[in-house]
Amino acid sequence: MLFLVEPSLTYKDSFIAGTRESQAEGLELFFNLDKISKDFEALLQLFDANKRVKTTPDRVPMSDFWLIDGDEYAGRLSLRHTLNDALLLWGGHIGYQIRPSKRRRGYGKEILRLGLIKAKELGLNRVLVTCDEDNTGSLKIIEYNGGKLENIIEVKDSPVRKMRYWIDIP
Ligand SMILES: CC(C)(COP(=O)(O)OP(=O)(O)OC[C@H]1O[C@@H](n2cnc3c(N)ncnc32)[C@H](O)[C@@H]1OP(=O)(O)O)[C@@H](O)C(=O)NCCC(=O)NCCS
Repeated sequence: MLFLVEPSLTYKDSFIAGTRESQAEGLELFFNLDKISKDFEALLQLFDANKRVKTTPDRVPMSDFWLIDGDEYAGRLSLRHTLNDALLLWGGHIGYQIRPSKRRRGYGKEILRLGLIKAKELGLNRVLVTCDEDNTGSLKIIEYNGGKLENIIEVKDSPVRKMRYWIDIP
């Protein structure tokens, strides 16, 4: 069974193992796993603080959720509570990733479905989700979850265009 939880000590070992898999692919490199394994509490505090930041032109509050498969970390989703100019242009409300060993099993579709429920709980009725034009998996996930393409835009310093989708949450 798949479900979302807030980041939790319960999943420390599998979060680290899953993130190590992603880092082997060059993803999630902003997580310093040596530091995190020594002081997991600091990571949890950071996620907690992110939810409560004040909205400024550069930052918005954000909630993180982990997708759990049985008792194992399978991926994560970030939900921005609001949009600033950059997020409106190409970042969107929701970002997600599935750890490499759990891919191609429908977990991507499920993490976004569950994330939309979290967005609704936060009071959002419509969210922006974006992906690179060449990210076939992600664009299928967005369309499966009701994404309507608004446009495809060029992004400064990026070789790949971004697809911008809106999802109405019933
Ligand atoms: C993109 C990502 C989330 C897909 O996760 P996933 O769990 O493999 O996705 P799913 O199993 O739900 O697959 C959804 C659909 O995309 C297809 N798909 C998934 N990965 C694919 C790939 N690399 N190439 C082509 N199609 C792909 C699946 O076959 C499925 O197609 P279907 O609807 O025809 O059955 C995952 O590869 C990932 O985390 N990538 C790195 C981070 C990232 O790109 N995040 C999204 C940022 S917008």
